[in-house]
Amino acid sequence: MTTPTIPLNNGVLIPQLGFGTYKLPPVQTREVVLRALDAGYRHVDTAQMYRNEAAVGRAVLDSGLPRDEVFVTSKLNNAFHAYDEAHAAFDRTLDDLGLEHVDLFLIHWPLPAFGRFVEAWRALEEIYASGRARAIGVSNFQPHHLDRILAEGTVVPAVNQVEMHPWFVQQEVRAYDAAHGIVTEAWSPLGRGRVLEDEEVLRIAADLGRSPAQVVLRWHVQRGDVVIPKSATPARIAENAAIFDFVLDDTAMAAITALDRDTRIGSHPDHENRTDR
Ligand SMILES: NC(=O)c1ccc[n+]([C@@H]2O[C@H](COP(=O)([O-])OP(=O)(O)OC[C@H]3O[C@@H](n4cnc5c(N)ncnc54)[C@H](OP(=O)(O)O)[C@@H]3O)[C@@H](O)[C@H]2O)c1
Repeated sequence: MTTPTIPLNNGVLIPQLGFGTYKLPPVQTREVVLRALDAGYRHVDTAQMYRNEAAVGRAVLDSGLPRDEVFVTSKLNNAFHAYDEAHAAFDRTLDDLGLEHVDLFLIHWPLPAFGRFVEAWRALEEIYASGRARAIGVSNFQPHHLDRILAEGTVVPAVNQVEMHPWFVQQEVRAYDAAHGIVTEAWSPLGRGRVLEDEEVLRIAADLGRSPAQVVLRWHVQRGDVVIPKSATPARIAENAAIFDFVLDDTAMAAITALDRDTRIGSHPDHENRTDR
């Protein structure tokens, strides 16, 4: 399997399909990520919050793949937006991963009540300048949060990773990102499995002889976004990667986009202010 790549705004290439690791327990993570790499994934998404960075790094190193063939993303945890804390937390990320650099480092949540994401961004800009992150970006940023980064920062985020799936299609955020050269990445691209029971998704999947997950992931890919589905199940890990040998026509694409309910599974970025995890 060869995964298509998308150029970020600094020329770094990001594989359009990545492997999500949220909720993978540390003891299981190395084995599951190794399986994903074996199945052809070349992009792994972790975070300080997931507490499994060490196992992700171990899997990348143990895979035997050249380091430059695996794209590794991690994210700054919510408690560390203060400038010094952000630097120290990033140092711990590299230590835990056992890697010399990450490919992408994101601010996990904007935490507007805390009010320090611009300060955190300044630290990320310095980390980027040092070469220890090949690209930097944000996660769960609404356009008004990005307005501040663009006005007060010196580096345009390469990526905005947000909740996105057929029940929450994020037209406004995607349009803002596209207008500013920011790649949109979909977290919970399968709606944590819930959208796979949608009747329209089931109908399109049956018509094409594909699984509902493949249809949903294909919809994301054809929109031009990056997807990072998670599964701990070997058959699903392989199934979710087999999405580059079929095409959804315009009617199917429009039918899936029309499933939007404008409702989130996760927190709203303006209201997520927990710093204790
Ligand atoms: N930046 C953020 O704030 C943020 C927030 C949430 C997630 N993320 C990232 O995005 C990744 C993906 O999101 P997610 O894990 O929340 O949700 P997801 O990938 O949409 O869904 C994962 C769930 O769907 C199931 N599943 C996977 N493939 C399936 C298939 N082919 N058929 C049926 N069920 C399937 C999985 O079950 P099994 O594992 O049991 O197979 C799991 O319960 C995360 O792992 C994480 O890396 C980022």
